[in-house]
Amino acid sequence: MSRKVIIAGNWKMNKTVEESIALAQDVAKEVSSVQDVTVVVCPPYTSLYAVSQVLKGSNVKLGAQDVYFETAGAYTGKISISMLQSCNVEYVILGHSEPRQFFGETDELVNKKVKVVLAAGMTPIICVGELLEEREAGTTEKVCETQIRGCYADVSAADAAKTVIAYEPVWAIGTGKVATPEQAQDVHAYIRKLLADMYDTDTASKIQIQYGGSMKPDNAKELLGKEDVDGGLIGGASLVAEQFKGIVIPA
Ligand code: PGA
Repeated sequence: MSRKVIIAGNWKMNKTVEESIALAQDVAKEVSSVQDVTVVVCPPYTSLYAVSQVLKGSNVKLGAQDVYFETAGAYTGKISISMLQSCNVEYVILGHSEPRQFFGETDELVNKKVKVVLAAGMTPIICVGELLEEREAGTTEKVCETQIRGCYADVSAADAAKTVIAYEPVWAIGTGKVATPEQAQDVHAYIRKLLADMYDTDTASKIQIQYGGSMKPDNAKELLGKEDVDGGLIGGASLVAEQFKGIVIPA
C-alpha cells in the first residue's frame, strides 16, 4: 500500500509571534504547489493562533508540540485539547525525546495524551527512538518496542491506523549525525512488523512512520526513498523556509 509522505516541522522553543507569522507565510508560499506530500508546521503554543490565520486557505497543516491529557482545571502551565482545537490544530507531537529527557514524559503519560488527541479527531505524531548507548548496546529494537507498546496501550486498531510514528534516534537529533538510510529503514521495518504483531498487517501498512534527526535537504531524498520511511520530523531545518522546502521537494 502506498502511504502519503508527511513532512512536519518541529519549531521547538523558537520563534516569537512575529517571527512565526513570517516563517509560516514563507513556508506556505514555498510549498504552495505541493500536493503529494502532507506538510505540517508545529510552532510554539504562543504562535498557534496567529499561524492558524496565516495558513487559512494554504496547503500547510498546523500541529502543536504537546498537549495535556486533562480537559480543564488546576493544571498551571498546561494546555488542553480544546484549546488546541480552537486554534485549528490537526496534529500533536507526543513523546518527543526532549520532554522525555527534560520534563519527565513517560510512555504512560504519552498513552493518555494519545487517547485524548484521537478522541478529538486529531492526529498524534508519536515519537520513539533510542539513545546512543542503547544503540551501542544493541537494544534499539527493544527500546522502540517498549515505547510503542506503552504509547499504544488500549488503543484500538482503528485508532492506531490514524496515528503517525516518528522514529527519532536521539543521537541524531540536533547533532548533524543523521542515521544512514539503511539504519533508518531497518528500524522502520522493525516498527512496522511490531505494529503488525500488535494489530494486523493492514493496520501496520496504514501507519506513516517518519524519520527524525538531522534530516536536511541533502539527505532527505535518500532517506525518503526507503520503503518504510514515510516522511520526516524536522527540527533545525524547519526554521528556514527554503531548507524546509528542500526536504518537502527534494532536488
Ligand atoms: P533536528 O530535530 O532535525 O534538529 O535533528 C528533529 C526533532 O527533534 O524532531
